[in-house]
Amino acid sequence: RAKVRTRHFLEAKRDGVRITGLTSYDTNTARIFDEAGIDFLLVGDSAGNTVLGYDTTVPVTSEELIPLTRAVARSTTRAFVIADLPFGSYEIGPEQALATAVRFMKETGAHAVKLEGGRRSAPQIARIVEAGIPVMAHIGFTPQSEHRLGGHRVQGRGEAAGELLDDARAVEDAGAFAVVLEMVPSDTARRATEALTIPTIGVGAGPHVDGQLMVWTDFAGLTAGRVPRFVKRYADLRGELTRAATAFREDVASGGYPGPEHEYPD
Ligand code: KIV
Ligand code: NA
Repeated sequence: RAKVRTRHFLEAKRDGVRITGLTSYDTNTARIFDEAGIDFLLVGDSAGNTVLGYDTTVPVTSEELIPLTRAVARSTTRAFVIADLPFGSYEIGPEQALATAVRFMKETGAHAVKLEGGRRSAPQIARIVEAGIPVMAHIGFTPQSEHRLGGHRVQGRGEAAGELLDDARAVEDAGAFAVVLEMVPSDTARRATEALTIPTIGVGAGPHVDGQLMVWTDFAGLTAGRVPRFVKRYADLRGELTRAATAFREDVASGGYPGPEHEYPD
């Protein structure tokens, strides 16, 4: 169980070994996913939705993500931990991006940072990498731009496939060690995967990519309501916790809890 490093991402692609990633925002899930052999944990700004109760990732701040990232980094021994940079913390330019990336690295113990954008973010990626910090890129549907993109929409369809491939090449040339492709048609994702040396990590990008990432509350069935088409639910945590809370309430009401085995003898 050697620690996962950036070189393992490249070796996995070369050897045809698929990479796995989940988001994590706390110590319990970090320990569980690390022990289950998940290769990387992303402390995503999806925490805005999954932890903090916002409708979008736009309001999320570094101050909110740093404690969550620190909790995940402290709770892993093997997995590669990636800190997501929030909206507004890197767009102004390469120096702002570097300052934010340095802050996350110093204050959290994460091993890399992630930021959104292809060609538009290439100067930021290059500056951060040059300073010694690995960067995971993120193209296709980029949630921090959802108001410009007009909601959660598939990117890189038809004519737009060329744009997506240009973004993929730009982040590789800028020095990213991997790139997330979010909500991209399978054929476009396959073309990007074939065109790049660095691994592609799909989130709703079909099977022809080098790895798969899911938001943990989606994959474990904790998210309320509808989930995107690409989500596969591996558990029903929402159902389990609802049953548990209901049973506890009924037990307390009926006097079934606590029992003698839960009492401290005198
Ligand atoms: O914040 C997040 O969880 C993400 C992934 C869905 C790619 O950016
Ligand atoms: Na994100």
